[in-house]
Amino acid sequence: MKTREELKKEIRALLAEKNALMLAHNYQRDEVQDTADLTGDSLALSQSAAGSGAKVIVFCGVHFMAESAAILAPEKTVILPRMDAGCPMADMITAEELMEEKGKRPGVPVVAYVNTTAAVKAESDICCTSANAVRVVDSMDSEKVYMVPDRNLAHYISRSSGKKLEWWNGFCPTHERLKPEDVLKAKGENPDAVFVCHPECRPDVVLLADHVCSTSGMYRFAKEIKANTIIVGTEMGILWRLKKENPEKKFVLASEKLICPNMKLITLEDVLESLREMKNIVTVPEDIRVRAKRALDKMLKVPRQW
Ligand code: 13P
Ligand code: SF4
Repeated sequence: MKTREELKKEIRALLAEKNALMLAHNYQRDEVQDTADLTGDSLALSQSAAGSGAKVIVFCGVHFMAESAAILAPEKTVILPRMDAGCPMADMITAEELMEEKGKRPGVPVVAYVNTTAAVKAESDICCTSANAVRVVDSMDSEKVYMVPDRNLAHYISRSSGKKLEWWNGFCPTHERLKPEDVLKAKGENPDAVFVCHPECRPDVVLLADHVCSTSGMYRFAKEIKANTIIVGTEMGILWRLKKENPEKKFVLASEKLICPNMKLITLEDVLESLREMKNIVTVPEDIRVRAKRALDKMLKVPRQW
């Protein structure tokens, strides 16, 4: 069996040979993040995919993220090393279900979290990520806004936005597992700690947070905050870079249950094999792609907030 270093070397050589860029989401396995050209949240990775001069994008994340890259950069070949790496929240609403909801709310714009399929994005007015959601919602030229699919993100946004929000009842099964009692236990064990969480967490967890932000927002928060101990309410993959960038600080995962099994599917062996064989290529039918791109492009004009 090849060592991590051997795999990394082979992957890096192949990436150079094929003019390919390897992107890894902040929740990927440590060794995948360590091998990638860039790590980031879903907003940063979409922007990097669209803006890069590479011919091939190896997207280490989940399906909707690779799909966003394929929507934004149709001239590039986008590889998702494991086609079965999906996002259960993205699969909680179909384009047909969204069309039915739109029919009940004529004239109300739809904001789709990027954690949606291309077909759902195509039926939406604009996309958002956890890094720009308040700004996106507030940018809408309407008093009412309908958000899909995450009820927790929508609930969180409804507290700070000036808009009247309604939303679909989807959720992230990983973040949903974090309960207030887990946070209170971690706080009891670390009385001087601050608690930061992702807006996909339940409202009763968000209420306990000192700060709520996207995954990349957490890197900034960890650097800027004076506290030495930080309780983290998001997927455990984030710890690798948090620890690397802040070796003097202590990071406590708010619950051992914060593992997204889909984000953990991609191994270095998968990256190497898919790139070598140029397989697992993500494509989007052109009629859907063009409409979905409109919603993503609109989002990319709104500045990041965290
Ligand atoms: P970010 O947009 O913060 O990267 O989060 C994406 C995601 O899937 C969170 O569960
Ligand atoms: Fe989807 Fe949740 Fe996994 Fe993010 S953490 S990819 S929202 S299931």
